[in-house]
Amino acid sequence: MYGVVSAGKEARIYWAKNKKGEDVAVKIYLTTTAEFRKSIKQYIIGDPRFENISGDLRKLILKWVQKEFKNLKRMYNVGIRVPKPYYAYRNILVMEFIGENGIRAPLLKEVRLTEEEYVEIYEKIVHYLKLMYNKAKLVHADLSEYNIMLYDEEPVIIDVSQAVTLEHPMAMYFLIRDIKNIIRYFREEAGIETHGFDELLEEITGRRLK
Ligand SMILES: Nc1ncnc2c1ncn2[C@@H]1O[C@H](COP(=O)(O)OP(=O)(O)O)[C@@H](O)[C@H]1O
Ligand SMILES: [Mg+2]
Repeated sequence: MYGVVSAGKEARIYWAKNKKGEDVAVKIYLTTTAEFRKSIKQYIIGDPRFENISGDLRKLILKWVQKEFKNLKRMYNVGIRVPKPYYAYRNILVMEFIGENGIRAPLLKEVRLTEEEYVEIYEKIVHYLKLMYNKAKLVHADLSEYNIMLYDEEPVIIDVSQAVTLEHPMAMYFLIRDIKNIIRYFREEAGIETHGFDELLEEITGRRLK
């Protein structure tokens, strides 16, 4: 294990190397606050993969790491560019390191690109949203310029612990929020043309709201 890449409220990410000497990212969940528990519960309750969870916070976090790992695998397996998942053990998740020599790649939020580059990235994200909904049957539920990294000029979607299956009662609400975030970012910050909200929702789900 080497340096800390990020110290968030609930988890820390470390740069580490595996036995083969390849870079990996190690995400360790540490928080045990009531606030964290409340916030993660809304994403676990309603997901049929996580029935029968007790109120025990330690167990909840173990489930949460399993959930992030499974979500990553499901997304990776349908061709969405996410960090390749390697292992989940207790409160620890090991995945592909997105960056070089221990320096993480920038977040979309942290870069300034040309119009053509933004258009390309936008189109890739729309493509990933379609794969996520139709093939992985998941909604990210925290998608924004803060959870997309830019590596080798490619968008990489991260932070998928809260992603829910389509059966989740709030799935459509989360999807609408994700779509609004993406449209807002690409229109207002990147300054490019995007789909309209209804149009993008239909593009992703094949159906209209109402
Ligand atoms: N696989 C990864 N490789 C390199 N850096 C990463 C990786 N995953 C996350 N990071 C970095 O760590 C930060 C926090 O990770 P994230 O999964 O978004 O956790 P949270 O937002 O819950 O703290 C990200 O913004 C990114 O800078
Ligand atoms: Mg994040």
